[in-house]
Amino acid sequence: MRLLVTGGCGFIGSAFLRHALAQPGVERVVDLDALTYSGRRENVAELEADPRFRHVQGDITDAALVDALLREERPTAIAHFAAESHVDRSLFAARRFVRTNVEGTLCLLEAARGLRDATGAEVRFLHVSTDEVYGDLETDDGAFREDTPLDPRNPYSATKAGGDLLALAFARTHGLPLVVTRSSNNYGPRQFPEKLIPLMITNALEDRPLPVYGDGRNVRDWLWVDDNCAGVWAALVRGAPGRVYNLGGGNERENIAIVRGILALLDKPESLITWVKDRPGHDRRYAIDATRAREELGWTPAMPFEEGLARTVRWYVDHQAWWRPLRDASFEAYYKAHYGKLGLPG
Ligand SMILES: NC(=O)c1ccc[n+]([C@@H]2O[C@H](COP(=O)([O-])OP(=O)(O)OC[C@H]3O[C@@H](n4cnc5c(N)ncnc54)[C@H](O)[C@@H]3O)[C@@H](O)[C@H]2O)c1
Repeated sequence: MRLLVTGGCGFIGSAFLRHALAQPGVERVVDLDALTYSGRRENVAELEADPRFRHVQGDITDAALVDALLREERPTAIAHFAAESHVDRSLFAARRFVRTNVEGTLCLLEAARGLRDATGAEVRFLHVSTDEVYGDLETDDGAFREDTPLDPRNPYSATKAGGDLLALAFARTHGLPLVVTRSSNNYGPRQFPEKLIPLMITNALEDRPLPVYGDGRNVRDWLWVDDNCAGVWAALVRGAPGRVYNLGGGNERENIAIVRGILALLDKPESLITWVKDRPGHDRRYAIDATRAREELGWTPAMPFEEGLARTVRWYVDHQAWWRPLRDASFEAYYKAHYGKLGLPG
């Protein structure tokens, strides 16, 4: 396999690069990443010595660059992770989300189709989507299945749904051998410290308030990042073309339970918890039915949540040189300014 990965310097993409390079029969792995605020070259530093690996800094919306890279590298498979990924940011910068998550996805699909048409060689395409495209569940509803209607409710999930549907349209209309995964919330090392788990860990380590939205009872299903990568790999290699696979961790937890768990692991007081006004359009609950991935791909998540959370906390304790520079004055100013506009505390 000759693999092109987009967004490989991000949280999940970098874990996927490590996973892919450890698989048999992988000749080449190229990472295309624009290195936005959440893309960190240091996330792939340990891979740079591998002669099969190449990092290219570039934007997936740059059609000329993407076309040229595909013609040069001739990938037999593409795993597309690159995205604007933070719901909060999509509340005040939605245009960037449309550009990367919709137009960038279209650009890659067109390039894959162009390469196939020019060379006659198939390019397997794995589009990384999210369970957020399904919208919201009430506490006593069941779980999202692959045939649950899409009902995205914030600009992030709306643009992810746009990319997801474009990808499936290319499978149908242009016969691209394309598979979509929709996973639940990932957690683990190297997640940018604006997302729930790393934000709470890093705030607690600095003895700063831990901001919890609304009543803290929003439920997410947590999936260990390496389990997601194994699922994405299985779908890329074994998934049926045109098919969607849900990947879930089977770990539904209320946000407040996660926050309390982190405080307990760090031996910090619950008085650090600060309640803040709820996020606009905050989905109540996500839950995933991953039966199809289990039955058709033979995939099941392996990491027990309590162990994964403890490992994640330990990683942030041990890698303060990784996250401290990311929580600099610009991080603070960005959040102060924008949360202020939403009427949320900075
Ligand atoms: N984190 C989660 O819990 C989760 C859950 C389900 C699905 N997903 C999806 O998984 C993928 C990866 O998420 P993540 O949490 O690792 O995100 P991330 O923000 O950590 O990483 C995104 C990466 O994409 C790169 N990127 C952004 N815009 C780009 C552009 N225009 N061109 C090239 N590269 C660009 C960034 O530099 C970064 O390296 C996304 O598609 C996201 O929607 C994430």
